[in-house]
Amino acid sequence: MSIIECVELRKEYVSGDAVVKAVDNVTASFEQGEFCAITGPSGSGKSTFIHMLSSLEYPTSGYVVYGGKKISQYNDNQLSILRRRRFGFVFQAYNLVQELTGYENILLPVMLDRKKPDEEYLKKIINMLSIEDRLEHLPSALSGGQQQRIAIARALANKPSVLFADEPTGNLDGKSGREVLSLLKLCSNELGTTLILVTHDLHVAEQADRVITIADGRIVSDSRNREA
Ligand SMILES: Nc1ncnc2c1ncn2[C@@H]1O[C@H](COP(=O)(O)OP(=O)(O)O)[C@@H](O)[C@H]1O
Ligand SMILES: [Mg+2]
Repeated sequence: MSIIECVELRKEYVSGDAVVKAVDNVTASFEQGEFCAITGPSGSGKSTFIHMLSSLEYPTSGYVVYGGKKISQYNDNQLSILRRRRFGFVFQAYNLVQELTGYENILLPVMLDRKKPDEEYLKKIINMLSIEDRLEHLPSALSGGQQQRIAIARALANKPSVLFADEPTGNLDGKSGREVLSLLKLCSNELGTTLILVTHDLHVAEQADRVITIADGRIVSDSRNREA
């Protein structure tokens, strides 16, 4: 069953006299629980695409359907609730709040939603990510890989149905990058979370169930890996 899909998504940026078609007529559908990598060269429109799919940016035209509803018509308030409750985000730059400890960062989305934390569940993801002994540290005292693992726990804290990741290993060295990737896979497998991950790194993309390749804002291939 498809959990999220987009139809004829376009994004145009006007700079001076020129119009840049960052995303040019992309239609795609994602299944509940799948791990899909979006790959392609730098500047091909991957970030713009995932931002529109995850409602961080409005499309110039086209629309996104999540859970059977056209979310492109939602207002800002509806979108922020949707993002907080149903989507998780992991970015290249971790984006942790520097003044808060690891655990406080993880708890942030739950607090913003004024919910009672599900301690058992949080413990489970903290264990999966092996960050038990990093919870009291401020981000500045953590390595890049550890910060990204905290960011993944934060992204999973509200039990999202879709986890969006834009170059999550982009700032990490090879070894920490591979660890972070396998932890993302492990978590999404264990929790049944759909994982949509942007990467320009083919070694990362080949870990996915499915690889969508974008060039010049268009999908140029969409294929399933045999045994990801
Ligand atoms: N805010 C913006 N204003 C103008 N042009 C943009 C903006 N964001 C992205 N672009 C352009 O859109 C194209 C796709 O960018 P992006 O989605 O960031 O690609 P990728 O993530 O694949 O590197 C590029 O040509 C980029 O310069
Ligand atoms: Mg990008």
